[in-house]
Amino acid sequence: MTRIKMTRIRMSVNGVEHTHEVEARTLLVHFLRETLGLTGAHVGCETSICGACTVLIGGRAVKSCTRLAVQADGAEITTIEGLASDDELHPLQQSFWDDHGLQCGFCTPGTILAAHDLLTRNADPDDAEIRHALEGNLCRCTGYQNIVKAVRSAAASMREAGGTT
Ligand code: FES
Ligand code: FES
Repeated sequence: MTRIKMTRIRMSVNGVEHTHEVEARTLLVHFLRETLGLTGAHVGCETSICGACTVLIGGRAVKSCTRLAVQADGAEITTIEGLASDDELHPLQQSFWDDHGLQCGFCTPGTILAAHDLLTRNADPDDAEIRHALEGNLCRCTGYQNIVKAVRSAAASMREAGGTT
């Protein structure tokens, strides 16, 4: 019987350290969902088109179906589950709720995290910059208008609060 070679990886996810043995072929999105139980990163296409699997690695938006878990060894990862603090939604989550930036919600975790990456680099993006930053995140429901509006209002409340969180 052939033995599957396992590799030990360690990473911080939403501020919690994890060490696990994984197969070299395990995709990061599958590791997050199946090993860590963080199912907010959705699997839509597995071909790097839809953006549903987007997470933050070192603060930058990355499609986690395009990374192997072993490539994230040593990384600091944030998933949608790590965005709220205590009982308070992150301003992006709140504005998506308030401005109806979602319908079925399948794309929403990835879209919010891609927007988070944008707002850490650009605190006051215009609509064109928001659309450009989110062009890798497909939504089959909303028509994007309310997503752009939600990102704009989150940016405004984050500026008011004095920075990104
Ligand atoms: S599942 Fe990763 S981009 Fe679609
Ligand atoms: S809200 Fe349904 S795919 Fe975007």
